Amino acid sequence: MNILITGACGHIGSYLVENLHKIKKVKKAFLIDNLESNRLDTLFNYKRKNKIEFFKRDLTDPESLKGFKNINIVIHLASMTNAAKSFNLKKEMYSNNLNSFKTVVDFCKKNQAKLIHVSTTSVYTKKVGLVDEKCEKKYLRPQSPYAKIKLLEEKILKNLGKKLKYNTFRLGTIAGVSKGIRFHTAVNNFCLSAALGENIKVYKTALHQFRPYLSLGDAFKLFKFAIEENFYENDVYNVVSNNFTVNEIIKKIRKHRKNIKISYVHSPIMNRLSYHVSKKKLSVKGLYLNSNLNRDIANTLNLLRNLK
Ligand SMILES: NC(=O)c1ccc[n+]([C@@H]2O[C@H](COP(=O)([O-])OP(=O)(O)OC[C@H]3O[C@@H](n4cnc5c(N)ncnc54)[C@H](O)[C@@H]3O)[C@@H](O)[C@H]2O)c1
Repeated sequence: MNILITGACGHIGSYLVENLHKIKKVKKAFLIDNLESNRLDTLFNYKRKNKIEFFKRDLTDPESLKGFKNINIVIHLASMTNAAKSFNLKKEMYSNNLNSFKTVVDFCKKNQAKLIHVSTTSVYTKKVGLVDEKCEKKYLRPQSPYAKIKLLEEKILKNLGKKLKYNTFRLGTIAGVSKGIRFHTAVNNFCLSAALGENIKVYKTALHQFRPYLSLGDAFKLFKFAIEENFYENDVYNVVSNNFTVNEIIKKIRKHRKNIKISYVHSPIMNRLSYHVSKKKLSVKGLYLNSNLNRDIANTLNLLRNLK
């Protein structure tokens, strides 16, 4: 089968492309990115180039996918993704992410391609105990414009009914190394600070609060599972390796870097209390994810070993 991957030069996309040869069903992958994030280097030295073709396209252009034919699946990863910065870039982010989403949805509808839609566990708000996909509406209150857009996308898909085959996957915060690795999310950012000998900045109230995390390896397992098992139920699934407190993440880093220091800061997106995200619904379908992130953290710190 042929697949199209948007945002292919990003953190998750580059990892997916690097490991694509492990999904035997995929004969060819068309990679799309507007290179706004300047990560052309992610496209260098892929081992199995015969399977992939890259196209520079900006998905905000409704015509950008015109000409792509015989695509069976679209994995839509293209997005502006910095949640903390989304407060100041609200207009730009709404325009980029929603228009890109619309181009992809229209393409899928027209070409009968199935859609793997990626959302975030940041659509949830504070809750005591586990929060799952069936939670009451009051627990679906995203704090950042970034996560509000994701929830809007989910609703648009839901309202399409049977016009499209898709699943929405709410990913936990990604940890791990890829060619397109980013450092603005929690685990990677903490590793970078530790490697540079800088203080790890922890949001004042967050040290003992739980958050959901997803190892890049587990994210890949999800895509492989969806493609191989033809898993499109027009439904929403949480995708989480495990829930950890910030303190637990810091302990994992401390195993490799003994002298790390912490300082406390305030941030508007962290006003909420902690929440545990349930991964049961996906595991009932046959995909059980359980990384403890130790390897992701070790790999990230190893990547940064020459930083002082
Ligand atoms: N990384 C995480 O922790 C995390 C967690 C939950 C959900 N997600 C979601 O997973 C997806 C991929 O995340 P990522 O971490 O790889 O992000 P990323 O920022 O590393 O990559 C996104 C890519 O999309 C491209 N892009 C942005 N706008 C585009 C446009 N208009 N046209 C074409 N390309 C465009 C960028 O150039 C970039 O290469 C995103 O939807 C993100 O919201 C990520």
